[in-house]
Amino acid sequence: IYSHLGDERVPIGVIGGSGLYEMDGLEIIEEREVDTPFGKPSAPITIAKVEGRRVAFLPRHGQHHEYVASTVPYRANIWALKELGVFWLVTVSAVGSLKEEIVPGEHFVIPDQIIDKTYRRPNTLYKDVAVHVGLSYPFHPMMREIVLGACRDEGIETHDGGTYVCMEGPAFSTKAESELHRQWGASLIGMTAMPEARLAREAEMCYATIALPTDYDVWYESDHVDIGEVMANMKRNISNVRGVLRRVIPSIPLEQEADCDASHALQYAIVTHPEAI
Ligand code: ADE
Repeated sequence: IYSHLGDERVPIGVIGGSGLYEMDGLEIIEEREVDTPFGKPSAPITIAKVEGRRVAFLPRHGQHHEYVASTVPYRANIWALKELGVFWLVTVSAVGSLKEEIVPGEHFVIPDQIIDKTYRRPNTLYKDVAVHVGLSYPFHPMMREIVLGACRDEGIETHDGGTYVCMEGPAFSTKAESELHRQWGASLIGMTAMPEARLAREAEMCYATIALPTDYDVWYESDHVDIGEVMANMKRNISNVRGVLRRVIPSIPLEQEADCDASHALQYAIVTHPEAI
């Protein structure tokens, strides 16, 4: 389906979270302004080469953090990357830790599940038909393995799996909410995994997230999320994740795309046409 893009095709995408507004070590080819049926993505997309591979980078919150989690144009972001030919998509997301053993500013987590508590974000790419894609495993196991391996090769203690609770924000949780999320067995609290993961599945992408814990949310010792602590931990995390991304890109098995089930997600979706109801 990407044959019309020829050599122009960009098979790998990276969406940067809070603190990651550009990638380094890139041979930049161009900054592309893209328009989509859902408007413009968060920022122009940087198309670059890393070890001979074309990569598209997009800062989720905009180049200057113009968009809060509720207003990020998630549909335009996924659409724009898809249009460039992205299949392999890695995203970076700052989160709060809901478990003592997940140490902010030191450990990374590759989540395997999501609980979606968002309630005011458009969450499907489809307009005139209802497309029910399977989402039982919202992060793709193959992409998870790749990013997990890259984190560990970089020497970062990384937790394999964990449930990410995605809240609407922008305010942080109450103590009772934070306790509830812990009782659900969740590991992480954040604001951006949804609808991003759902849209990536609808767009038949092989998607995983590197979650960077910046704080212990409000269940642990502190009564509030300390912004100084968040910023200091975020700085350390971002400098670590840059090294991880440099490892991820060359280790993606580009030749396996056609065999990867993520590229057939719509084949197994239930599609309801309005005239058929
Ligand atoms: N992102 C980083 N820390 C967070 C927290 N405690 N709650 C929600 N989102 C976050």
